[in-house]
Amino acid sequence: MLRTKTCGELRRGDVGLLVTLAGWVDSVRDHSGVLFINLRDRYGVTQVVFLPEIGEECLDLVRSLHPEDVVQVIGLVQLRPDGIVNKKIPTGEIEIKAESIVVLNRTQVVPFQPSAPELPAEETRLKYRYLDLRRPAMQRTLILRHRITKVMRDYFDERGFVEIETPMLGKSTPEGARDYLVPSRIAQGEFYALPQSPQLYKQILMIGGYDRYFQIARCFRDEDLRADRQPEFTQMDLEMSFVGMEDIVEIVSGLVVRLMKDVLGREVRLPIPRMSYDEAMERFGHDAPDLRFGMELVDLTDIAKQVDFRVFREAASMENGKGRVRGINAKKAADKYSRKDIDALSSWVAEQFGAKGLAWFKVDSDGKLTSPIAKNFTDDQLQQIAKRLGAEAGDFLLFSADTYVTTCKVLNGLRRRLAVELKLIDSGEMNFCWIVKFPMFDLDVESGRWVAMHHPFTAPLASDVELLDSDPAKIRAEAYDLVLNGFEVGGGTIRIHDSQIQSKVFDLLGLSNEMAKEQFGFLLEALQFGAPPHGGIALGLDRLVMLFGGLDNIRDCIAFPKTAKAADLMTGAPSPVENKQLEELAIKTLTTNKEKS
Ligand code: AMO
Ligand code: AMP
Repeated sequence: MLRTKTCGELRRGDVGLLVTLAGWVDSVRDHSGVLFINLRDRYGVTQVVFLPEIGEECLDLVRSLHPEDVVQVIGLVQLRPDGIVNKKIPTGEIEIKAESIVVLNRTQVVPFQPSAPELPAEETRLKYRYLDLRRPAMQRTLILRHRITKVMRDYFDERGFVEIETPMLGKSTPEGARDYLVPSRIAQGEFYALPQSPQLYKQILMIGGYDRYFQIARCFRDEDLRADRQPEFTQMDLEMSFVGMEDIVEIVSGLVVRLMKDVLGREVRLPIPRMSYDEAMERFGHDAPDLRFGMELVDLTDIAKQVDFRVFREAASMENGKGRVRGINAKKAADKYSRKDIDALSSWVAEQFGAKGLAWFKVDSDGKLTSPIAKNFTDDQLQQIAKRLGAEAGDFLLFSADTYVTTCKVLNGLRRRLAVELKLIDSGEMNFCWIVKFPMFDLDVESGRWVAMHHPFTAPLASDVELLDSDPAKIRAEAYDLVLNGFEVGGGTIRIHDSQIQSKVFDLLGLSNEMAKEQFGFLLEALQFGAPPHGGIALGLDRLVMLFGGLDNIRDCIAFPKTAKAADLMTGAPSPVENKQLEELAIKTLTTNKEKS
């Protein structure tokens, strides 16, 4: 090694040791002829002092150093004089009195300094990712990620799980996003799909008798990106045989306890609370509710039916009871939102969630509801609304009158946004819950067809199987999501292992026998050769790291992430390829042809 110690480990007890350190120059300072370097590596920062007695040649060399030059220093560990002890860093009591220095490598002027307190633009960080990766915060996160993965591997290993790799080059899987395709050179015109998850392979492993499988698995989904989504992400994937939902919930709840204890040193009490999908949508408007604060959705549809206010009455009276009028109460927030702020909220919900408007009231000091729309209500109606929402002086009430689905989206959006603006969230809290009893199918409005809410191999609740023939909308699935602080961090299901039920589900999804065979023939066949009852779950590792690290962006948890346009700014991927490569694959791209002509 070019060093005997790291820049993070020397303490008072090491005084008198002759050490060799190597690392990056964090800063150079000249205090009237005495020079200081802060030397940094991933373990920390150590101060090195160069006294005049070391000689002019050495001092000149130190003066010529720039931040991020790579150097090796030999020197004696000594106590810092009383006044300059730095309590903020673990090595702050000591410094190295340099005896010699070697420049291992000089740097170009860096586009940004990893030690600077303010971050440069994200594009710059991603383009020069190696500099960004030198930032202590990035290093902490990637080490946290390693810890989390290690705890997971240990936990499952201790319980008899076997880690088995599944292919990257495979057949399209049914998670429902767009596939990333890889052309085959040998079978020209044919494609592999990168896995959206190891779903089908892990079911095959159960049929293959492995009983308890897990994998830290890379998944690929070509979908629109958000702060919590990447096109290439990692799942902690597992599958078990001879289990029901309770077994999966128990094993993953145990993992949560272990992760919280080993990684954050915190206790989680079991059982983790559960809520049905219906209850989550009713109370929070979302199937991954953030339970760290209240501001629950309140229904007023019955009151709204009686009022003169057209917007409310019409929504409340929509045919088939599809319309709802619901509201939230932002406690004591009336004076925090001006008319201009409310207009901004109103445009935001229109743009983001297709709201047609935003009705609101403020509660004055006498407890009366005030708003430009108040004249459309009788005093009695206003009182009923106030009572329903538990309104008190100073509260700010917001309403959505629309289809059930839109009121969910609008009020979930407002609830989350207002909680941030009003600082209602304790950022240290880690709030886990299970969401269960999901609907099995969702009606795709555009095509009018049923689509699987999770994937087509999900089993219906035993009590709902008979509804397959009569009322698919009412069928609930043997599905469960793990939610942490308002993010879905895991999702899984018990699978169908009965080929008759599987056929019925395919039928409902409009999948003909031929299509099912073509897409999943190998699994359908395997299910007929002694498939054990089985089920599993996948946790989103990147999201877990994000939340365990107290971060709000998934890109900060991944060493080499993609931008919102799915690009890697450091390598320049995706990028055009040589014509020769395309010819070998028998592929013509429209863009290249256009550019050429
Ligand atoms: P699902 O599609 O719910 O289930 O994915 C499981 C978990 O993976 C995370 N996740 C993502 N994280 C980052 N970027 C993405 N684009 C992304 N998409 C999903 C989420 C999610 O909860 N095969 C099933 C699991 C099973 O049934 O066992 C599956 O993939 O945290
Ligand atoms: P209008 O009658 O359309 O001028 O709307 C009167 C008030 O009701 C305005 O404050 C609108 O923002 C609000 N509003 C309109 N449509 C809705 C809706 N679907 N839900 C909630 N508020 C609405």
